[in-house]
Amino acid sequence: FPGPAAAGGCGQARLSSSGAAAQRAPQAAPQAAVNTRKKTFAEVQTERLEQAERTVLIKCPPKLSEKKLLRYLSSHGDIRSHFFFENRGIHALIEFSEKNSVASLQDAVGIPSAAEHHVVPFKSRLLTFTLKTPVSQAAEETPIHLAPQSHIPVKELIQKLCHADSVSNQMYILLNEFQLTEENIKLRFLACSLVRDFTRAYFPDSMVKPFGSSVNTFGKLGCDVDMFLDFHDVQKHATKMKKGPFEMEYQMKRLPSERLATQKILSVIGDCLDNFGPGCVSVQKILNARCPLVKFSHQPTGFQCDLSVSNSIAVKSSELLYIYGCLDSRVRALVFTVRCWARVHGLTNSVPGTWITNFSLTMMVMFFLQKRSPPIIPTLDQLKELADEKDKHIIGGYDCSFVSDLSKIKPTKNTETVDVLLSDFFEYFGNFDFRRNSINLRKGKEVNKPESYPLYIWNPFEQDLNISKNVNQPQLEKFVAMARESAWILQKEEKTQRMINKEPWGLAALLIPFGKSNPSKMKNRTKGAGSETIRSLLDSLKLNSANSLQKAVGK
Ligand code: CTP
Ligand code: MG
Repeated sequence: FPGPAAAGGCGQARLSSSGAAAQRAPQAAPQAAVNTRKKTFAEVQTERLEQAERTVLIKCPPKLSEKKLLRYLSSHGDIRSHFFFENRGIHALIEFSEKNSVASLQDAVGIPSAAEHHVVPFKSRLLTFTLKTPVSQAAEETPIHLAPQSHIPVKELIQKLCHADSVSNQMYILLNEFQLTEENIKLRFLACSLVRDFTRAYFPDSMVKPFGSSVNTFGKLGCDVDMFLDFHDVQKHATKMKKGPFEMEYQMKRLPSERLATQKILSVIGDCLDNFGPGCVSVQKILNARCPLVKFSHQPTGFQCDLSVSNSIAVKSSELLYIYGCLDSRVRALVFTVRCWARVHGLTNSVPGTWITNFSLTMMVMFFLQKRSPPIIPTLDQLKELADEKDKHIIGGYDCSFVSDLSKIKPTKNTETVDVLLSDFFEYFGNFDFRRNSINLRKGKEVNKPESYPLYIWNPFEQDLNISKNVNQPQLEKFVAMARESAWILQKEEKTQRMINKEPWGLAALLIPFGKSNPSKMKNRTKGAGSETIRSLLDSLKLNSANSLQKAVGK
């Protein structure tokens, strides 16, 4: 059993044992209680962005001596970390200890000869390493370890899950297989940093920062990189200058709206990436969307990227989810399971449409966890009460304040296991009164729907926005039907029998499209029976099978 996974972006800051806390409390158990503190969202962002600036990406020949490459690069400075990965050829991500090592390396790097194609003379941190004399097979050392950048196929996952000994362990296995790795997170921040090299040509103080699932602890290997162009530091600088007896300000181009400015900036950056960005392909400017963006594929890192301009509220949502994801290991296990389940059953899709998004689904899981007794995570209003002066943020008239220091949040007293939570999640939403009620994470309560969208999930910060207004009635009904079917499967589960029959059981059974294994049964249960029938059926099953289920899953 892999145990609750702590990776995936949940920053663990290890306080040094010689630190103040340790000195004040010498009586504390020295070994067992290694003092770890979870970093704030801002700390993780700052650290990762700075790390990315000291990093280069090198395309390598197929036969390569790792030692020789590292020896050569070390002549430019100390290498803090490195790894190799496969993405149309082998690549090495090299993190130097000092930023000036990158400059030193760049100074020593040549420019490709313009024999066939003319090159745009933009010098980036994407380099190609070639060997003048190919390495002979004999000279090769141990094969290079390639860090995987994608998750195992669901089919393989299902096989792995069958060998677990409980549904809870299956959920943690899924989490370990799908969550972002340390290497993949580094690569995501590097992609942002490389885009920043372009934006700062126009706006020297600008930053390009990731948001969404790359940083909210719910990212799955292979998910897109959402990034935004941030001028926040520029604004801060401007307010600073206004202090004192004088006022001095920049002369700046004035435009009739912020939206127009955003569109113009993105248009130029989009052209820049398209024309001069090494490995930036399929650049698409989608400037008329509610939130204008530039989509592109970044070939060297292998990421699909969405670049927008300062979307402070979306960043706050990312931070809120980061906090929830770091609070308790069950949160991420449940979200990853539900997201994977939804994908398998076609409830979510990689292209936008009338279906539920991963973001909405994650919010539904958070709401469900707020509603447990005792609650597993606090409501947004409770997090707001814990906020101090530096946590105060009013964005566009909306109060987006909430605590950033995770240690101020009391751990939950809830001890339910994740398999119970999964089963109850399906039951809860299989019977949720979507016609009347909406989901409100600020209050942690169902609230009467303010508008008649089929699914209404309040944007936690812009309280007049529904984050799931794209979802239509048939998609919601499909979700409800699948949730009911899944609750049913988990309740009636006879693990031992299924194992003897070599059939997928528990979570594995949930990750096989239902129609495929038994279409007729599924139809009867979801269309024929009303919600009350299902509810009472489940209740009776629960009573009857609680004991045998406990035995079967070995808890
Ligand atoms: N967002 C939002 N309101 C929406 C949709 C998105 O505020 N209606 C914000 C959220 O902060 C979200 C981010 O934009 O995390 C990125 O959106 P998206 O890529 O759709 O979701 P992710 O959370 O990144 O999930 P995925 O792994 O599917 O990309
Ligand atoms: Mg995303």
